Formats: sequence, structure tokens, C-alpha cells
Amino acid sequence: MKILVTGGTGFIGSHTVVELWNAGFTPVIMDNLDNSSILVLDGIEKILGFRPQFYQENCNHPDSFRRIFEAEKDISGIIHFAAHKAVGESVSLPLKYYRNNIGSLISLLETASEFNIQNIVFSSSCTVYGEPSSLPVDETFPIVPAESPYGNTKQICEEILRDCHTSGMNFKSLSLRYFNPIGAHPSGFIGELPLGVPGNLVPFVMQVATGWREKLSVFGSDYNTIDGTCIRDYIHVVDIAQAHVNAVQYLLKNKEERLYDWINLGTGKGSTVLEVVKTFEQVSGLPLNYQMVSRRPGDIEKIYASTEKAEKVLGWKTRLTLADGLADGWRWQQSLGPKPSLA
Ligand code: WQD
Repeated sequence: MKILVTGGTGFIGSHTVVELWNAGFTPVIMDNLDNSSILVLDGIEKILGFRPQFYQENCNHPDSFRRIFEAEKDISGIIHFAAHKAVGESVSLPLKYYRNNIGSLISLLETASEFNIQNIVFSSSCTVYGEPSSLPVDETFPIVPAESPYGNTKQICEEILRDCHTSGMNFKSLSLRYFNPIGAHPSGFIGELPLGVPGNLVPFVMQVATGWREKLSVFGSDYNTIDGTCIRDYIHVVDIAQAHVNAVQYLLKNKEERLYDWINLGTGKGSTVLEVVKTFEQVSGLPLNYQMVSRRPGDIEKIYASTEKAEKVLGWKTRLTLADGLADGWRWQQSLGPKPSLA
């Protein structure tokens, strides 16, 4: 069975392509390479010994989807990763994010309906929850006004899926709300590409350890947590990828005509920033150069997922640990060699 993976050369998309193939699906990649590289396909081929069909297309254009659906007649489902995802950039360039992230979902839904493709998995985010009132966060928690245009695009896209479902459109969709994806494929052949200064903690840690950057700034040491630093739910990207396979299998097996649901993807365990730093030092055997600085505006204090619904609905839970993610991410970082100009 063929599954279209939009954003399939991206961080989570590329790992999902690998796990789809491992599960017996035939992944078809659609990506405009705006925030990735064709070299990712080489890495996937090294892992699988198979080079997936690749279409360099822009999801914002309905005809891009039509060309692919015409060429690939038997697509059974779509996993939609393609989106801009830099929280900070979204604040300075909101229209770029609204146009791309929302426009691409609309193009997908319009054309999938024309070709009667009914199974859709959407890449969403735990940012929809904001600062939760209690922990762990489960899927009944309220959606709060987004802290950034990026987070808002995820909320709006979930609402678009909800409203299309309510209107009677004939499709089944699952929105998967990721917590904090980290790590890389254990082969070291694919991982998170270092495009620009990392906004996220773990890629920045890796780049300090490899000498690309001088020092990690830890944003805030006065939070109400065990060591004063923020808590997040860091989940291995391979675990996330496997959850997407389970989600596709769930939709394909589900005999409902129409379905709309959402599920958290997390480990169910929270880790502080300093616990991440200490765990990295243990797995790498290297001391990390860091300094404590003031809080980063917009950061929430603590969040981690309830994993009950994912286990119940998808029959999935994480198998890899924070240490596995940091070790696999470190192997990938070391494979990149000296700092490239694009970083
Ligand atoms: C984690 C912690 C920072 C960098 C991300 C994505 C968002 C969503 C949720 C998927 C925070 C601290 C960071 C640094 C630091 N995922 N930090 N120094 O903010 O939880 O959001 O996951 O959609 O899209 O952005 O992740 O890695 O930026 O921060 O101290 O140099 O690390 O303050 O406490 P965040 P993050």
C-alpha cells in the first residue's frame, strides 16, 4: 500500500518514511526541499536499500497534489508533515506561516477528496495546550490561545479538519500532537539537518559538544522545578515515526466512513533542561559548556504527556529513552563533521 508523505525529507518525515517501509508500506515523498536537502534521500536509501519515489513539489499548490495522485494511482493514505516550524521566525513572518501551513492543508484536503483518498494523519503539536493546569496532559485538556503564529497554524489546521469532518466530508483523520522530538536514526544516516542557529535545546547541545557553537545558554533557573529549569517530554524521533505507522494502520482498519480524532505523542515522563545536559554528558563522555541565563519569553514551565490514549487507540507507546535519543543524536551530529556553511 502506498502512503504519501508530505515533508518526507524533513526530520520526522524522513524517519517515518523508513518506518513505513519497515512495516511493509510503500512511501511516496512529496517535498519542496525548502527546509531540507535531497541528500536525505541518499540517507534513506542507505538504510533501506530502496530509494522512495520523490516528487519535488510545493504543497501549497493543489495541482502539485493532482500530479502526484494522477501518477500514483493507489495511494491509500497521506501523512502531512510539510510545514514551516520555527516558532521564533513565525513571530516575525506570520504571513509566511499562515500561507504555507494552512494553505498546504487546504490544498491537500481539496485534492484528496477529488481522488477519494480518505485516510489522513496530520502532524500537530503539544503547543496547542499552552501552559497546562495540571500534569500529565491528556487529550481532554483545553486548547488555549497559541503563543506564536506557528502554534496558531497547528490549532487552525486541527479546526479545519474538525469542520470538514462536521460538514460531512468523507475522510478519516488523526492529528498527532508531538511533544519534544529528539534524536536520530541509530544508523547515523538520517537526523535533524543543521539549518541555521538551532532554536531547540537538543540540537544546540549537540552543536556545542561538537565545537560548532561555543556555549549553551540555559534559559531560566528560577522555575518551580527540581533544579529550577523547565520540564519537557523529550521523545525519540524513531518512536514518533513508529506511532505514525500505527496511526495509518488504525485508520486503514477502522471501518467508520468518517473519523476525526487527536492523540498525544510523548513518553509520559518529564525531564528538566539540566537533566538533559547531564544525560548528554553521560552518554557522550564529554563535559558540556553552558551558562545559566534569564528566561526565554514565551516558554512554559513544565509539560509532559499522558500516554493512555495513544496506548489504547494506537496500541503504541515509546520504547526508547532520553539517553537513547541523545546517544543517537550525538552519533548523527558527529557524522556531520566540521561545521558546514549552512549551519
Ligand atoms: C525546550 C527547553 C527552553 C534552547 C518545541 C518546539 C515546538 C513543539 C514543542 C513540535 C525550554 C530550553 C532551549 C536553548 C534552553 N514541538 N532551551 N536553551 O520550546 O518546548 O518547543 O517543542 O511542534 O514546535 O519548538 O522546545 O527545545 O526550544 O526548548 O535552555 O538554547 O529548553 O527554554 O525550556 P520547546 P525547545
